[in-house]
Amino acid sequence: MSLLSFLEQHQKQHHLPDDLIQTAKSIVNACTQISQKVRLGALSDVLGEAGSGNIQGEAQKKLDVIANQIMIQTLQNTNSVAGLASEEEDTFVSGSEKGSYLVLFDPLDGSSNIDVNISIGTIFSVLPKPNSGSLKESDFLQSGANQVLAGYVLYGVQTQLVLTFGHGVFAFTLNDKNEFIMTKENITIPAETAEFAINMSNYRHWENPMRDYIDELLAGKDGVRGKNYNMRWVASMVAEVHRILMRGGVFMYPKDHRDPSKPGKLRLMYEANPMSWLITQAGGGATNAMQAILTIQPTGLHQRVAVILGSQEEVDRVTRKHSQG
Ligand code: AHG
Ligand code: MN
Ligand code: MN
Repeated sequence: MSLLSFLEQHQKQHHLPDDLIQTAKSIVNACTQISQKVRLGALSDVLGEAGSGNIQGEAQKKLDVIANQIMIQTLQNTNSVAGLASEEEDTFVSGSEKGSYLVLFDPLDGSSNIDVNISIGTIFSVLPKPNSGSLKESDFLQSGANQVLAGYVLYGVQTQLVLTFGHGVFAFTLNDKNEFIMTKENITIPAETAEFAINMSNYRHWENPMRDYIDELLAGKDGVRGKNYNMRWVASMVAEVHRILMRGGVFMYPKDHRDPSKPGKLRLMYEANPMSWLITQAGGGATNAMQAILTIQPTGLHQRVAVILGSQEEVDRVTRKHSQG
């Protein structure tokens, strides 16, 4: 089934507003354009450094800037979109005055992998615009539980779109005519797993409950968990979440001691919220080690958060360890 047929059917079945479907189509259109640039790499002159930095003090790659421009240009020309917020922009960008939705996105996730031909992606989250006149930053600061559409496009071995409107998780693969075709429906994550993903080089910076949890996994069959675990780390959250949706696992980017102003590396609005909604829609768990990600009341657009998500049993165990101190 094509994405267009799916959207038509899903809209009827779940009484989704026209404007929301229009917003979804526009996001997908932008990601298809980004995919074309990514595919060509050096041949479309998109590799390497941009020579600039973003509001969060990170060096931008050319593709961070290009993907951001494509997203903004496409979404600003969409009547249903009232405003945008991007990981690469200092503040929000206004859209159409008639718009009823806010789109928040990480235009290019996994930037460190761009130049080495490893999977990268675009992550998006859609919130309703509150009925409160002219657009302001506080309109965007809604908890993840308010999302009406979330997903990502993975530019990997195949380009795949994965999304949810809150009625299950669906995956589509881009064909040679630049159309997305459904390749998986109602995705579910097994509650148990023997695979984890974490940047182990940060071990010494973590808090004790996290070290303790990882020590248990590393002890394997001889430890309290009584089974051997395997580890994967792509360094692209999109690729990591995709693997977990396809075969289970747990992904962690915990809080660490390096910078007290940043409780974690990942961004609540552009990364943690959309990915947590996808994971929980697929039956998995997502917390910041203390509370469900989707219940966090945001205080800033670029706010960072610790992220533990994936197979329920592991997410529960990490979270329990933190609540016990
Ligand atoms: P971004 O490229 O948007 O800045 O995000 C990168 C994130 C995420 O995709 C990934 O899980 C993590 O950073 C990788 O971190 P390490 O560099 O510590 O591996
Ligand atoms: Mn990212
Ligand atoms: Mn990014």
